Amino acid sequence: MQITTATKLVGLIGHPVAHSLSPVLHNSVYQSLGLDMVYHAFDVTPDKLETAIDGFLALGFLGFNVTIPYKEKVYNILESRDAEAQIIGAVNTVKIENGILKGYNTDGQGFIMHMKNLGYSFYGKDVVILGAGGAARAIGIYIAKEGAASIRIVNRTFHKADILAGVINDYMERRIAKASSDILSNADFIINTTSLGMWPDIESNPLKGLTLSKHSVVCDIVYNPRHTAMLKYARQQGCKTCDGVGMLIGQAVRAIEIWLEYSLPKNIWDKMNQEIGKVIF
Ligand code: ATR
Repeated sequence: MQITTATKLVGLIGHPVAHSLSPVLHNSVYQSLGLDMVYHAFDVTPDKLETAIDGFLALGFLGFNVTIPYKEKVYNILESRDAEAQIIGAVNTVKIENGILKGYNTDGQGFIMHMKNLGYSFYGKDVVILGAGGAARAIGIYIAKEGAASIRIVNRTFHKADILAGVINDYMERRIAKASSDILSNADFIINTTSLGMWPDIESNPLKGLTLSKHSVVCDIVYNPRHTAMLKYARQQGCKTCDGVGMLIGQAVRAIEIWLEYSLPKNIWDKMNQEIGKVIF
């Protein structure tokens, strides 16, 4: 592609960002769709965070993504955030429009888009979420919004699961979520949002030793490795599985849609899957 003065700029801020897959994913989409945009990852130290954001504003960036450790910090310096980002309390996507920064959290939306893409719906379903951190919060809110019948949150630290259940119930204005130590009974979906199984801890499996029902769909948001120990275990027990790469793609698609204000064609998922398949196995 040719970069000109008209090329729109977007990027990622985090610390560190060297291993981020976002530049590969985003730039491949822009190329496939013939979009005159370029995406770059910026490693910004904490003392330069606000200066970097002022820089994006001054340089006319369309927006930017935010990753660890800045999702909450950037949330706190924004003028405006969408309703779900306000409940999640963290943003990973910012749109810049007329000098105003508006924040979104595409973690949950990306996950839901990925599941819909695979033909799954959460409407009326019983869902178990493993973990109660930022990712669980983002995913839990959107699963509730999709009409899940119940959400059980299973977490090493029980009181954090209890807090998250309260946040989801307040958002929905009804009691659909609860903290639980029971992973299995009646679960239509089991979703791991913890870091268990992530490289280099690749042997860890939060479902180890449990007998799974074949009708449970088991999902991992860990994508490195793509085939986690938990997903292999679930497949051995006859369950359908969804890997974390899909959510990664969904987050990127949703961010681009927020920046451009239109929906991307469905076939872009296959292209992104191919690109990511070159770097994640
Ligand atoms: P993220 O933003 O990626 O969700 P986070 O907010 O730090 O990250 O949340 C990490 C989640 O993984 C938490 O639910 C954490 O459990 P605790 O609340 O008990 O800390 C869970 N987690 C991380 N390491 C874990 C481990 N070794 N065993 C079980 N749960 C773990």
